[in-house]
Amino acid sequence: AFKPLVFSGVQPTGNLHLGNYLGAIRKFVALQETHDCIYCVVDLHSITAQLVHDDLVEQTRSITAAFLASGIDPKKHIVFNQSRVPQHAELAWIFNCVARIGWMNRMTQFKDKAGKDRENASLGLLAYPSLMAADILVYRATHVPVGDDQKQHLELTRDIAAKFNNDFSARIASLGLGVEMEMGEETVNGFFPLTEPLIEGPATRVMSLRDGSKKMSKSDPSDLSRINLTDDADTISKKIRKAKTDPEPLPSELDGLKERPEAENLVGIYAALSERSREDVIAEFGGQQFSAFKPALADLAVDRLAPIAAEMRRISADRAFVDSVLRDGGERAGAKAEATMKGVREIIGL
Ligand code: ADP
Ligand code: NA
Repeated sequence: AFKPLVFSGVQPTGNLHLGNYLGAIRKFVALQETHDCIYCVVDLHSITAQLVHDDLVEQTRSITAAFLASGIDPKKHIVFNQSRVPQHAELAWIFNCVARIGWMNRMTQFKDKAGKDRENASLGLLAYPSLMAADILVYRATHVPVGDDQKQHLELTRDIAAKFNNDFSARIASLGLGVEMEMGEETVNGFFPLTEPLIEGPATRVMSLRDGSKKMSKSDPSDLSRINLTDDADTISKKIRKAKTDPEPLPSELDGLKERPEAENLVGIYAALSERSREDVIAEFGGQQFSAFKPALADLAVDRLAPIAAEMRRISADRAFVDSVLRDGGERAGAKAEATMKGVREIIGL
């Protein structure tokens, strides 16, 4: 079987927000206890929508600082930025030749990001999931902690791995490059694992504070829609106070949150930040007005996020240190990625 290995990535465009933290980064931290982990700042993904950014390098440092400030240990695990390891792009090209155009056309994130003028979106935006599959599979990672928005891309990653394993099964076997893995009833020999997404807990999809039907996102033009990891206490309190809600008090049963997306979102955030269940939160706050719940949520958010923001500022001030983490991580990641690519090139006869 494949050795358990965790991989995940975060884009260096825009502010890191509470959704990124609860849906992804906090899980990255927890998984370090049980797994070998590789955490990547995916700068090549950031250029799919807009090629030139003035501050991509600075943003890459900032995400790296957020990883470290949240508790990721770059000595025990690997932290680096994607563009340092060209094997990601090399494998992505091969996956572009494995994946089918129809698979990419079905991706809801592409449809959302491309908008109405799809013919005019970059080819990179369409092929984004192929690069994401390469990010994961160039390390033959078995587990990927992500938010719920990435579920479809993880399914595509499995489809690409399965098609590669299947199309080249004879060569994989004759070169002795296969790893035995269970697939339902069968045991097959694959070169790539069928990677499992890890999407769990009460905050797999944190919603915008201004619109309960949209996810909290870096790219939302309204800064009031998200809590940034770097917001100060007053800003966090203000954004929670201004968060859209309905006029009813919180329900006394979890079921009462159905059809109340804004209330459900705030309860989920409270549960995730306090590491309690949503049932517990409802047991404490059920029947109370938002005018009572929101200040409690604001205090909790400030309590959990302020120390991370302070540590981020401290780490960010030492650019040379941050750059050395990325350089060292890039070297270690590159060695692993090259080992995989040697096998891939042999299998496809390059
Ligand atoms: P964004 O979606 O804000 O542009 P990224 O694409 O860089 O950010 O996502 C980084 C990680 O954060 C991914 O694992 C993604 O699933 C997770 N994530 C992003 N937004 C949310 C959200 N609103 N709730 C939970 N997780 C999220
Ligand atoms: Na995303």
